[in-house]
Amino acid sequence: MQTDITRSVVLLGSTGSIGTQSLDVIARNPGRFRVAALAAGGGRIDLLARQAAEFRPEAVAVADPAALPALKEALAARGVTATVLAGPEGVAEAAAWPCDTVLNGITGALGLTSTLAALEAGRTLALANKESLIVGGPLVKRLAKPGQLLPVDSEHAALAQCLWAAGPTGPDASAVRKLVVTASGGPFRGRSRAELGGVTPEQALAHPTWSMGPVITVNSATLVNKGLEVIEAHLLFDVGFDRIDVVVHPQSVVHSMVEFTDGSVIAQASPPDMRLPIALALGWPERVAGAAPAVDWTRAHTWTFEPLDDEAFPAVALARHVGAAGGTAPAVYNAANEVCVEAFLGGRLPFPGIVDTVAAVVAEHVPGEAGSVEEVLAADGWARIRARELTATA
Ligand SMILES: NC(=O)c1ccc[n+]([C@@H]2O[C@H](COP(=O)([O-])OP(=O)(O)OC[C@H]3O[C@@H](n4cnc5c(N)ncnc54)[C@H](OP(=O)(O)O)[C@@H]3O)[C@@H](O)[C@H]2O)c1
Repeated sequence: MQTDITRSVVLLGSTGSIGTQSLDVIARNPGRFRVAALAAGGGRIDLLARQAAEFRPEAVAVADPAALPALKEALAARGVTATVLAGPEGVAEAAAWPCDTVLNGITGALGLTSTLAALEAGRTLALANKESLIVGGPLVKRLAKPGQLLPVDSEHAALAQCLWAAGPTGPDASAVRKLVVTASGGPFRGRSRAELGGVTPEQALAHPTWSMGPVITVNSATLVNKGLEVIEAHLLFDVGFDRIDVVVHPQSVVHSMVEFTDGSVIAQASPPDMRLPIALALGWPERVAGAAPAVDWTRAHTWTFEPLDDEAFPAVALARHVGAAGGTAPAVYNAANEVCVEAFLGGRLPFPGIVDTVAAVVAEHVPGEAGSVEEVLAADGWARIRARELTATA
């Protein structure tokens, strides 16, 4: 049974891939959801103003203070009278704005402040910004109350559904043998390490099954995204790294699976469309009818599964290593990667150099506690400086 209460949503990163798909879900379900606040970086002011004019939020925030005059002008031109917030503190204020659910669709570790602000304010947090959970794992877990943190990543939404399907009172943790996270394998699946040397940013940005923002698209090509997702699964579901497998499934229809101790496997399947996990997180625990098209069973399908080539794509093994080390190690992995992706997209680093450089930065790091935002930011800052030094000489 579906409730008829409208859920208010704060959308962070509204102009991005996740943000625009979230607004599509909200627009198609006006009685179910309404937008309380929107926030974005400041790169697409016209789009942000158009979104505000359509969804009439109470507040609009922009992270770049320099974009404030243009935003005010664009909002006034459209007759929008929302409270306007600016700067990182303005985005954090939007994250704590009164609402039922905050959807964090910001890219990168800088989403951590918003994640913490939303949790501190007691909001349900639909988390697309996996980086904030990975870099601030202990901080986020300490703040999040049971049921307060909902995954938007398709793999983790799948795992949650498989665990949910395991029993009416929730899964018996002792009956779960392993989590099996699927990976498309990215555009370079099947290539050897040597064959990856010459790939260009254009090739890395052409994902075979998903249309996403540039950072996550490159992370999908290097498999760093899968590494981040393994850490995310560990943090969300409290399952050890030795019980989280990665399997390559190029069709991206089975989004992940749970294997139980009796040998049974439950899988969640749907054509690749982020609107499904977004709608599930916004409507949780109720489903949103028509959120995305289902598999067409009148057509023939072939779904294949193959092991991951750890030699060509060492990012997942490296993520397991930093995840098991814990503390500030995942923050260093993520921060070094963000710098390396930027260097690769700027033509300053070859494709295999991304994970090689991340591994070099991780090897130099002595993990410390991630007990405060300051400790996390210090490790993040150090990793960025070190990665910049290494990519400058690459
Ligand atoms: N895209 C997917 O299908 C997908 C799937 C699973 C998980 N995710 C995760 O979802 C997150 C978003 O990914 P995406 O692909 O949607 O990225 P994206 O297309 O690059 O969008 C990023 C959004 O964040 C905004 N932003 C940047 N800096 C900000 C700041 N300081 N404060 C507030 N907003 C800021 C951007 O605003 P401007 O437009 O102004 O720059 C934009 O709206 C990432 O963590 C990614 O790993 C994405």
